[in-house]
Amino acid sequence: MAQDRIGKTAVITGGGRGFGKAFGVALAAEGAHVVLVDRDGPEAEAAAAEIRSAGGLATGLAGDVTDEVRMAEIMAQAAALQGGIDILINNAGLHSEEYGKPITEMGLAKVRRLFDVNVMGLVGCTLAALPYMKGREGASIVNISSSAAHTGGSAYGDSKLAVAGLTITFARELAPDNIRVNAISPGLILTETIRAELPEVTKARVKAMQMSAIDGDEHHIVDAMLFLTSCKAEFITGETLRVTGGMAAGV
Ligand SMILES: NC(=O)c1ccc[n+]([C@@H]2O[C@H](COP(=O)([O-])OP(=O)(O)OC[C@H]3O[C@@H](n4cnc5c(N)ncnc54)[C@H](O)[C@@H]3O)[C@@H](O)[C@H]2O)c1
Repeated sequence: MAQDRIGKTAVITGGGRGFGKAFGVALAAEGAHVVLVDRDGPEAEAAAAEIRSAGGLATGLAGDVTDEVRMAEIMAQAAALQGGIDILINNAGLHSEEYGKPITEMGLAKVRRLFDVNVMGLVGCTLAALPYMKGREGASIVNISSSAAHTGGSAYGDSKLAVAGLTITFARELAPDNIRVNAISPGLILTETIRAELPEVTKARVKAMQMSAIDGDEHHIVDAMLFLTSCKAEFITGETLRVTGGMAAGV
C-alpha cells in the first residue's frame, strides 16, 4: 500500500457512495484522513466506517453542499484533524434522470436546484475550505465535471460546463496560494446510481459514442484523481481531464 498521503486531510463531497466513496477508499489507502461529506449522513458514516474497518482514517459527516453555514463548520472540523486541508474533491452532484430532462420539462425550480448543487455548491465548498488549504504543501482541488459538458445540449451539461469554467477561474485565483485546481470529466461510468437509473437503451446509445470498447469503471476516475492530486501533476492546473473512452474527444 502506498503511504504518500500520511498526515494529509482530504475532504470529499458526495462521499457516501459512487465516485465520492471510491475516492475516499483510495486516498485513505494511501494514508490520508478522509472526510466524507454527504447530504445522506448515515451513508457517509457507513462509508467512513467501512474505511476505518479496513485500517484507514475516515470521518463521515452529514451536510448539504448548498448549506453555507454547515460547510463552514465541516471544513473547520476537517481542518482540526491534522492542522489543515490538503485535498478538496468537489464531487457532489445531481445527475439522476430527473435532472437530465429538457429544461422545459424540468421547470425553473429543478433547474435552480441543479445549478445550486452542481455549481454554487462547488463555489461554496471551495470558499469554505480555502482558509485551511493556504500554506499546505501540494494542496489541490479536483472538481467533477462530466462528458456532458463537452457534448452540450442539456441543463445538466451546462452546469458541468460551468464546473470546467470555474476550474480555470479558481486555478488562476488560487495560484498565488500554491493551490492547484483541476477537473475530471467522466464519461459513462456504471456507478450504483447510473446502473439503477439509466435505461439500458440510453447506456447503449452513450457507449456507442465511445472510441474505446471497454466499459468505463470507477477505478478509471479514481486513478485520474490520484494523479491530479499527486506531485506528479505539480505543473498541471486549470485543466479538465476527460476520462471518457474517447466519447468527448475534441479540441
Ligand atoms: N457516474 C457517471 O457516469 C458520471 C459521469 C459524469 C459525471 N458524473 C458526476 O460525478 C459525480 C458523482 O457521481 P456518482 O455517479 O458517484 O453519483 P451518486 O449519485 O452515486 O453519488 C452522489 C452522492 O452525492 C450526494 N449528494 C447529492 N447532492 C448532494 C448535496 N447537495 N450535498 C451533499 N451531498 C450530495 C448523494 O447523496 C450521493 O451520495 C457527480 O457530480 C456526477 O454529476 C458522474
